[in-house]
Amino acid sequence: MTQMIPTGSREDEIQIYDLHKSFGAVEVLKGISLTVHRGEVVCVIGPSGSGKSTLLRCVNLLEAPTKGRIFIINQEITDPDADVDHLRTQMGMVFQQFNLFPHLTALKNCTIGQTAVKKIDKAKADSIARENLEKVGLGDRADAFPAQLSGGQQQRVAIARALSMDVEMILFDEPTSALDPELVGDVLAVMRDLAASGMTMMVVTHEMAFAREVADRVIFMDDGMVVEEGPPDQVIGNPQHERTRTFLQRVLDPTHVRPGEEDEAYARRHAKRRAREEAALNDPGLPRHF
Ligand SMILES: Nc1ncnc2c1ncn2[C@@H]1O[C@H](COP(=O)(O)OP(=O)(O)OP(=O)(O)O)[C@@H](O)[C@H]1O
Ligand SMILES: [Mg+2]
Repeated sequence: MTQMIPTGSREDEIQIYDLHKSFGAVEVLKGISLTVHRGEVVCVIGPSGSGKSTLLRCVNLLEAPTKGRIFIINQEITDPDADVDHLRTQMGMVFQQFNLFPHLTALKNCTIGQTAVKKIDKAKADSIARENLEKVGLGDRADAFPAQLSGGQQQRVAIARALSMDVEMILFDEPTSALDPELVGDVLAVMRDLAASGMTMMVVTHEMAFAREVADRVIFMDDGMVVEEGPPDQVIGNPQHERTRTFLQRVLDPTHVRPGEEDEAYARRHAKRRAREEAALNDPGLPRHF
């Protein structure tokens, strides 16, 4: 059950209370409350435009909520006096488009946050980064630049970068949906290992097989609300709500077109976001998700 007051327990890593978010006159999150527990893998599924990315981006305040409160390990990130930069160091964020620094090697991408934000010395940062690149199967590609890596490899660098910050939790926004199908498996395998190692993960995904296998809990969102949540066998295997059933029929249908191809609005939205994220990368400061 969602708890409606902060418990003070270290076991509650993300607590969201009555979260609302509007863009102009359009309310895209309409009162979301949920808790993600330590070590839990929560997969968020739902149709394009239902607010999944906005929810994730509110959790680390990449978007400012219009209303509601969010606690990260019992510290309120929505408190105007919160040390947001410090709270963000506990959360890794893995995006569809990787967001690596193009002018830095894989190794440097994994050390820059450590040295710039956490003030870890270079030798230590290098050794932590190498260990994590090894963990994601890229120990031998430390000196490669992003352009020299496949999308799947870049995404694994992005995961190694999050791990190198010694985060408590990682938020994933469709980490495999920009990848060629043959590269998806390697990234999901790394995520599966992470889940098994006890990492707290909140994963927006269209990979139903992954959600079914790895998630402790699945949340189905539609139209800015949580329609249904529960164990994957229940939500994916035996959904109670008509809207969940309709959505699953569509995505589980083998003739279903991949999201992004089916919906022009989706493509436009993502082009805009990509432009914003690329602009952030060109910013001399660190992108806000560090
Ligand atoms: N920065 C923004 N400015 C204006 N509207 C936005 C912004 N970001 C998102 N929206 C709108 O909010 C709604 C929810 O978008 P969001 O990206 O959260 O959906 P989603 O569930 O992640 O969809 P998808 O599966 O396509 O990624 C959409 O109608 C979108 O157009
Ligand atoms: Mg999205």
